[in-house]
Amino acid sequence: MAQQEPEDLLEMSPETRTILEEHSLEPLWEVEDRFGTVMADPEAEIWKWEDIQESIDAIERDVPIADLPPGFQRRVAVPINTANAISNTIYVGIQTVSPGETAPAHRHGANALRFTIDGAEDMKTVVAGEAFPMKDNDLITTPQWEWHDHVNESDETAAWLDVLDLPLVLDSVNAKNTFEYHELDRQPVTKTQGYWASQYGRGRSQEDVTDGSIPGPFEGTEEPTPPYRFEWAEMIESLRQRADNDDPDPHDGYSLSYVNPASGEPPLFPTMSFRAQLLFEETDPHFHNATEVFFVIDGEGATHVGDDALEWSQWDVFVVPPDEIHHHEPDGEAKLLAMTDRPVFESINLYAEATPSS
Ligand SMILES: [Fe+2]
Ligand SMILES: [Fe+2]
Repeated sequence: MAQQEPEDLLEMSPETRTILEEHSLEPLWEVEDRFGTVMADPEAEIWKWEDIQESIDAIERDVPIADLPPGFQRRVAVPINTANAISNTIYVGIQTVSPGETAPAHRHGANALRFTIDGAEDMKTVVAGEAFPMKDNDLITTPQWEWHDHVNESDETAAWLDVLDLPLVLDSVNAKNTFEYHELDRQPVTKTQGYWASQYGRGRSQEDVTDGSIPGPFEGTEEPTPPYRFEWAEMIESLRQRADNDDPDPHDGYSLSYVNPASGEPPLFPTMSFRAQLLFEETDPHFHNATEVFFVIDGEGATHVGDDALEWSQWDVFVVPPDEIHHHEPDGEAKLLAMTDRPVFESINLYAEATPSS
């Protein structure tokens, strides 16, 4: 076992370390040492919110963001199911920013988004010059190579889900997560609130908002995803209209994909696709070679994965590994955020999905 540096031990109390270990969570600044490892058999697993809450509270007590080492200046608890993340492709972390704190500006090659768990009007994530308010259940993109910092000017701790394609980038593809710090902790806010959303509505600039080139020192063919805030109020209205008028999908219930605002079509990122799901009834079982990670927006129920039943309630996080037969059994109305690496499989013509023969 690697010798632990004395300064590492100083960062968290033994009590906090015990709490995290009991709940299969680790702080980001320790997880990153193990990037580069792919696991053969990730399992179906769930992280209950009360355990996550206990863990992020303990970290928040011990570790101000300002004390974190350069390169890790995000206070994040990371569900561990593979070597260093919840899956071999999608990384999920639960990040907190206390009142008055800033998570300093940086940018990187990995795509990221925030899904707000406990937000506030004065909790802002600043992306590409615009300060986006983080209200409950808003989804805000931080596309590759766009500057982003998180600033809490409210009087309550804010918490959200970070979702990145880090394990895919660092482990499977073994690319470097090209990374850079901004010279300032807070990037200048150069755009009015609502700018990015306004440029991807029905009216488009003739030159288009982006020139279609990949941002940063990269090359590729995919339409870059712009900075964008998907307000939950709009998503839930769309889901309810769907539920009032249409039939549910047999496997996903009432389900809407977040589109790349530039193309108007999913996936949101070339590597990850996201769905908001509204469930009322038990779904039919199916299986596929893509991984699915779920966050429980609200409601209670169970997701059956093989012989396991993952019993969930609000703000739990769980993972359905590839090729496992699964279906959802909500207890009344439930809403889920689904995250999948399906676009990676589709881009190489390897996506497969089937229903089990009875
Ligand atoms: Fe980041
Ligand atoms: Fe599925």
